[in-house]
Amino acid sequence: MQATAQAQPNIALIKYWGKRQTKLNLPAVGSLSITLDSLWTRTYVRFDSGLEKDEFHLNGQLDTIRCRRVSQCLDLMRRRANISYCAAVVSENNFPTEAGLASSASGFAALVLASSKALGLDLTDEELSEIARQSSGSAARSIFGGFVEMELGHCKDGSDAIAHPLIGPEEWPLHVVVVITSDRTKIIGSTEGMQRTSLSSPYYQAWIQNHVSDIEAAKHAIASRDFYALADISEHNCLKMHGLALSTRPALIYWNGATVECMNCVRDLRASGTAAFFTIDAGPQVKVVCAPSETQKVMDALRNVPGVLCVLNSCIGQGARLL
Ligand code: PMV
Repeated sequence: MQATAQAQPNIALIKYWGKRQTKLNLPAVGSLSITLDSLWTRTYVRFDSGLEKDEFHLNGQLDTIRCRRVSQCLDLMRRRANISYCAAVVSENNFPTEAGLASSASGFAALVLASSKALGLDLTDEELSEIARQSSGSAARSIFGGFVEMELGHCKDGSDAIAHPLIGPEEWPLHVVVVITSDRTKIIGSTEGMQRTSLSSPYYQAWIQNHVSDIEAAKHAIASRDFYALADISEHNCLKMHGLALSTRPALIYWNGATVECMNCVRDLRASGTAAFFTIDAGPQVKVVCAPSETQKVMDALRNVPGVLCVLNSCIGQGARLL
């Protein structure tokens, strides 16, 4: 009753921000992402009748705080398998946790896959995606590789609020430069941030109303491999999400000074003909999507921005898999 799985974080180009229902964690908007390759979470799960409670180790340390969310996710799996055993979960991230690098996406995608295998459940990717969504909306997308769309869904039970792949990583092999501007864990998590936004941002309804056209524009750009159209809609959607966050009371300011300087650097690069655009999630890190031939130039430029701590490079990767 044990298994190990790996999943990678994904970076949303069209963002998920807002929930229409909290119990099943149903999104208020659809979203679209790319799954990364070189950042990963590896998770080992063992269900054991001898254990009295779930145990969670992250990066070699017992983590009783995060264990609560891990247990909630395991409960969903135990219910499906009709098994009550507790589990030992050992997880490792090769990148900073809860720092706006989507560690919850890779973390829960790996956990759902490893625990389903350990329990002998034979689930489809769609079922894995649905279960992962209940723990973290973005985790539903990390089940798949390449360019991935997360459906808003319409069913009350959430069965159609799942992700599906659009094109594989090899079909448009862009690169992602991940720029770390802070190694502190974030102060306001996405769930609380989304709730505050829906309650207090005057722009929230407009955000909900506009998301379909943003998704359509991004899908069209992907289908025609139009880099500059994808750049345009992705930066617009990212800044719109941060506009929501900034207009929330109290305001959610996820950026630091270096974040803003990186955005300017990327816009300058693009203005001078370099195929690169940025996106930023609920944290200060900047992800720069670029043509593979421009990666070195983009990395060199961003490394020189004051306040940048380090710069990583990733291809677009595969979905979650068993190890
Ligand atoms: O999946 P969560 O609850 O961690 O929320 C993710 C929110 C963003 O990363 C900001 C956007 C997204 O679509 O990934």
